[in-house]
Amino acid sequence: MPPLPARRRVAVVGTGAIVSGSHLPALRAHSDRTELVAAVDVDQDRLDRFRELAGGEVAGYRAMDAMLDAVRPDLVLIGTPPSLHREQTVAALEAGAWVLCEKPLSLSLAEYDEIAAAEEASGAYASVVFQHRYGSGAVHARELIASGELGAPRVAHCQTTWHRDAAYYAVPWRGKWATEGGGPTMGHGIHQFDLLLHLLGPWVEIRAMAARLVHDTESEDVSTALVRFENGALATVVNSVLSPDEVSRIRIDCADATVELTHLYGHRNEDWVYTPARHVAAERAKAWRTPAADVPSSHTAQLGALLDAYDNGVRPPTSGPEARATLEFAAALYKAAFTGSPVHAGEVGPGDPFYPAMHGDHPHWAPKERA
Ligand SMILES: NC(=O)c1ccc[n+]([C@@H]2O[C@H](COP(=O)([O-])OP(=O)(O)OC[C@H]3O[C@@H](n4cnc5c(N)ncnc54)[C@H](O)[C@@H]3O)[C@@H](O)[C@H]2O)c1
Repeated sequence: MPPLPARRRVAVVGTGAIVSGSHLPALRAHSDRTELVAAVDVDQDRLDRFRELAGGEVAGYRAMDAMLDAVRPDLVLIGTPPSLHREQTVAALEAGAWVLCEKPLSLSLAEYDEIAAAEEASGAYASVVFQHRYGSGAVHARELIASGELGAPRVAHCQTTWHRDAAYYAVPWRGKWATEGGGPTMGHGIHQFDLLLHLLGPWVEIRAMAARLVHDTESEDVSTALVRFENGALATVVNSVLSPDEVSRIRIDCADATVELTHLYGHRNEDWVYTPARHVAAERAKAWRTPAADVPSSHTAQLGALLDAYDNGVRPPTSGPEARATLEFAAALYKAAFTGSPVHAGEVGPGDPFYPAMHGDHPHWAPKERA
């Protein structure tokens, strides 16, 4: 019998909604490969509740540095507010641990490049949670598009039309550039346009508008963009928290088929629909159906992919240049919206005002943009 794979010693940092609701179930699903050994939260009540929920021997810490020194985990899962991600990811890497950090991995491209430098120095890797890449429907669609089976991609829609109320924005870190990094572009739509980029590949040019129409926030509550991809396809991207009928959707019209994903916070195979072009034979289109095994998009699926990479000692998916590309897209969208000019791939880098901060040197949306 082959030896059982080693169990990785895991610590979680931040024990709020996403860690309790999604990371903990993912760890349980992979309990043959992981052992939750420690949890960190500055809030003692939350920490106590989480340790009770997790059960077993989970050591509790109020400070991450103390946990890293004492526990030396193999893997750190980070689910704190976004302004802490860079600092905590770098600290974990410096302690030799791999990291799976919640989105957004950092507040700016400049912060991202500090994480990349820490990866380089430590030899460990930091991956960002974009769980929608990992459902079997997404894996299958990507393979079909990349292989050319659906023909050349031509037109795409990427829609995150969600609804968030004033109570949601009463949480102090939300809606502020310094603590959330932006509005629905960075906080909500980032999942969908990450998947769009994963399916369509590199973009070359973006034009955008954004506005703060309703909420008492610094950042936008809606943004829209037009994007040209390297393969020639044109796309629209909408990121909103003002939409009563909530939906997450990606639709890509290729030469031989339209592929459409409709869901809200997670997808299964049945959420992917393939419509063949008139000239496509029925037999060929039948083969496009999503595979028999249905892996929902989830933290569980992404953690499994990361553990595979750990076992093989290779860079995990959704890290490095791939993770940077999604953050660069967000930075370019904001730059295009603030300046009113098209932005090209590679343009936002050191020296550009949108490199150290998603809002560049603008304090907030100008009042005229609220009209
Ligand atoms: N992938 C997804 O679908 C998804 C969904 C929701 C939220 N998120 C992301 O998860 C992150 C957390 O969101 P949430 O809704 O769970 O927030 P939350 O407020 O429920 O949890 C954050 C926790 O971090 C703790 N914390 C704050 N400062 C800390 C510190 N210095 N050290 C340790 N712990 C600290 C807080 O006390 C709190 O318990 C955000 O980045 C958010 O964007 C991702």
